[in-house]
Amino acid sequence: MPRSTPFRGKNISSVTDISGWTPPSATPRSTTPVSRPYASRMPLPTALRKNSAAAPIPDRKPEAVAYSCTGEAATPPCILDTTGDPLPRRGYRKRPHSAPMQETLAAACILAAGWPKIAEQGGHFIAPMCGSGTLAIEAALMAMNGAPGLLRDNFAFMHIPGYDPAVWDDLIDAAEDAENPDIPGRIIATDHDPAAIEAARDNARVAGVGDFIEFDTCDFTETEIPEGPGIVMLNPEYGERLGEVEELKAVYKGIGDFFKQRCGGKTGFIFTGNSKLAKRVGLRTKSRRIFFNAKIECRLLEYELYAGTRKQK
Ligand SMILES: C[S@@+](CC[C@H](N)C(=O)[O-])C[C@H]1O[C@@H](n2cnc3c(N)ncnc32)[C@H](O)[C@@H]1O
Repeated sequence: MPRSTPFRGKNISSVTDISGWTPPSATPRSTTPVSRPYASRMPLPTALRKNSAAAPIPDRKPEAVAYSCTGEAATPPCILDTTGDPLPRRGYRKRPHSAPMQETLAAACILAAGWPKIAEQGGHFIAPMCGSGTLAIEAALMAMNGAPGLLRDNFAFMHIPGYDPAVWDDLIDAAEDAENPDIPGRIIATDHDPAAIEAARDNARVAGVGDFIEFDTCDFTETEIPEGPGIVMLNPEYGERLGEVEELKAVYKGIGDFFKQRCGGKTGFIFTGNSKLAKRVGLRTKSRRIFFNAKIECRLLEYELYAGTRKQK
């Protein structure tokens, strides 16, 4: 859904039967998109208000099924959120540690970095400053073709009449069959905080990728950088939530030195919400992609790190 699309919904515990229900005709009737969502002005249809007669999965709270109407069309469509708990919550991050990246945001950065192809070709993924391990875990899941939703066993659609558990089980089996745990390259995650590494290890274990990631407690500058092509991706603090900007200037300069001196032949990436700090890296960026971390406009900065003597500025 485009970011500008108005979206607001009402959560209800579950759905009984919405067949035969049509959304009330829109007012005002207009062909131009309106910016305010209709949802707040529309009565919830009775069928959507009732609690489900379809028994929820035993021993588990039913997920919310959201209903929402956008203001994009003259007759607003009814949207059923068949997910419930948001998709970014993959279910593996039992220990978040400090300022963790959303799982889907981490996955988007890794995709933007071209990791799946590099992984296939035997490249490495190195995540110094790994915190709770999100980048390394998502990289490992991608490299083994792991479906990120496999850890979840409760989605909103499971509470909608007509849900067939056998069909879902077949899809799960197919996703599991498609996994390939033979990752040719190495995935390395380090942090100077032992509590972060402990959390990251636990999270990786829950995600089922604990055996594919090598963890180490060390300063980022001491991270092992194996020979061969690969990605080095860091998500340093950027002074919005953690760390003081003044102190961070030296850290960003240190990342530039680390890239130059230790990471030749790799592609470096920094995910940050502070472009002034990013300038302290002192290297020319190959690309800058904008991402939003909640409301904070961030950049994924890419640095081509030449092996040998080619001048980097
Ligand atoms: C913004 S957090 C990273 C969050 C991570 N992306 C996640 O999803 O959990 C920054 C991390 O950098 C680590 N860090 C800061 N300075 C460091 C240094 N000099 N060497 C190694 N790690 C460092 C912190 O301990 C923290 O875990």
